[in-house]
Amino acid sequence: MPYERFVLPKAAVRAALLSLVCLICFGTAALHAQSPAAAPSTPATTVLVAVDQRPVLNLDGDWHYILDPYQNGLGGGRNSYPSDEELPAGSNKLVEYSFAKSPTIKVPGDWNTQRVSLMNYEGGFWYERHFQYQPQAEHRTFLHIGAANYRSRVWVNGQLLCAHEGGFTAFDCEATKAVKAGANSVVIFVDSTRIADGVPTLKTDWYNYGGLTRDVSLVSVPTSFIDDFDLHLDRATRSVIEGYVHVEGAQAGTQVSVDLPAAKLHVEGVTDAEGRVAISLPAVGLTLWSPETPKLYHVVLKAGADTLTDEMGFRTIETSGTKILLNGNPIVLHGICIHAEAPFRTGRVDNDRDVATLLGWVKELGGNFMRLAHYPHDQRMTRAADRLGILVWSEVPVYWAVEFEREDVFAKSQQQLHEEIRRDRDKASVVLWSIANETPNNPARTAFLTRSAEFVHQEDPTRLVTAALLVRGDLKTKYIDDPLGKALDVIGFNEYIGWYEGTPEAADTTEWKIAYDKPLITSEFGGGAKAGLHGAADQRWTEEYQASLYRHQIGMLNKIPQLRGETPWILMDFRSPVRELPGIQDGFNRKGLVSDQGKKKAAFFVLQKAYKENGLGHAE
Ligand code: GCU
Repeated sequence: MPYERFVLPKAAVRAALLSLVCLICFGTAALHAQSPAAAPSTPATTVLVAVDQRPVLNLDGDWHYILDPYQNGLGGGRNSYPSDEELPAGSNKLVEYSFAKSPTIKVPGDWNTQRVSLMNYEGGFWYERHFQYQPQAEHRTFLHIGAANYRSRVWVNGQLLCAHEGGFTAFDCEATKAVKAGANSVVIFVDSTRIADGVPTLKTDWYNYGGLTRDVSLVSVPTSFIDDFDLHLDRATRSVIEGYVHVEGAQAGTQVSVDLPAAKLHVEGVTDAEGRVAISLPAVGLTLWSPETPKLYHVVLKAGADTLTDEMGFRTIETSGTKILLNGNPIVLHGICIHAEAPFRTGRVDNDRDVATLLGWVKELGGNFMRLAHYPHDQRMTRAADRLGILVWSEVPVYWAVEFEREDVFAKSQQQLHEEIRRDRDKASVVLWSIANETPNNPARTAFLTRSAEFVHQEDPTRLVTAALLVRGDLKTKYIDDPLGKALDVIGFNEYIGWYEGTPEAADTTEWKIAYDKPLITSEFGGGAKAGLHGAADQRWTEEYQASLYRHQIGMLNKIPQLRGETPWILMDFRSPVRELPGIQDGFNRKGLVSDQGKKKAAFFVLQKAYKENGLGHAE
């Protein structure tokens, strides 16, 4: 449902501006009035990388929970947290709340699909659990949170450690001074309320699952530790592993080494005053990572007392004119879009079984590529993509009408890009960073996203930047000329010919006018079908209609010479709060090629045939 352009009459503009000014004056006051306990000044962000490769104290499991729709616990005063359990005796008696007497809920997991009573709950939610811990000398301790949707605050033993905004990226809170030997408690307040100045903003075509949706763990690292590294193959010769290692808290001159034992590769260096050491490791004879050969190497990084290991593939990705080159060879990306919706049980994907099912279907389709829509997915997805040889388009939820005029909203999107890139910089499968989806073509948006593209190129010059753009025109002629295209390496475009406009057959005569000499990916096309509903090919919602739509799309798209890939919308039906057609949608977007209960629709096999016969898109 592409984003529609709406023009306001002059008088209305003036009235709106006036009310806007009033709103800014009074609104923000109200906002602050709403949550008196202002967020701490220490915004949490990503400190650790490759955490899933470190030994950790896993805090997943059953956590007590308390609903708090009015943020009562944040209000300070009698019923607020922290209670006297942590504070000196008698200073503040928690009278009407008790974690110990409260029910429990699973972490990781969205809360919505764990209790019928919580299915439609959006708001404040308290989590609490206890854990035994033995702090190590000369070590720092971090609480690592895989994701918390949307805003969260974290306490350990009653000490407020940090706050975070953003529902799909990992963050760390330093707990070194808060943890103690023996019994400890961790309390996390998560507020899933959608906000206008959020990323995403108020309206999405996916379900706003709330909670601690990914793993939570306690990580102990030596006082100086490896907090970031980049190891990638040089594009020029593909025979040197380049990059850097950064050691947090290191003295200058700290010894660092990088080893790939299986390839008998070793390099050493010493850190500079910023704790950084540049890496250049001749790497002739490596098996380059690709969908055909998803070779991963065990990598060992050592710095002082810290050792970090990882499983990494080495490959290059670049563009040359309108081609996408993987390891220097033109490639066509046979893909599919995926939401982080768990097959069969629905809710957020948060375990290996969900991942195996979804990626198994991608492989069955004959796919070598997937677009993780519209937000960074669980790290299990990109780790599995590394192992299975599936290339990845990863995206931040700058989706539809984000408030592009606001600098603080830009800062939020940049933080999410930063957190996303830090987590998946080590994944060979991730080749495209997408900065946005279906955003309105106006100067504020284009300026905002052009800066985002520059930021990503700076943060990670080894990968490609893209976005899913809207197209202009009618069924006869479509134009791909969004000005944002200038800032992108690869142009993604969404079109719904045969569903939101015209019939499937209309695609047969649509002509495409493309303003850019760049690789194109059809980041979305598709139509809905209720699994098991059969009928004439021109009867909407039938599997036959969807299959026919795919056939005509494949025919049309193949006429675009610079089409280097596609990710039809979408692999599996997913929950959406804007899909309520009774007997058909019932709360689900039905554009999946597979139903949420795993039933493959006829169109699945149409696309599978095209991919198996290499019949969609051109490598060159
Ligand atoms: C949009 C959008 C998706 C949405 C899809 C649809 O274009 O990007 O998030 O679900 O179209 O309408 O089904």
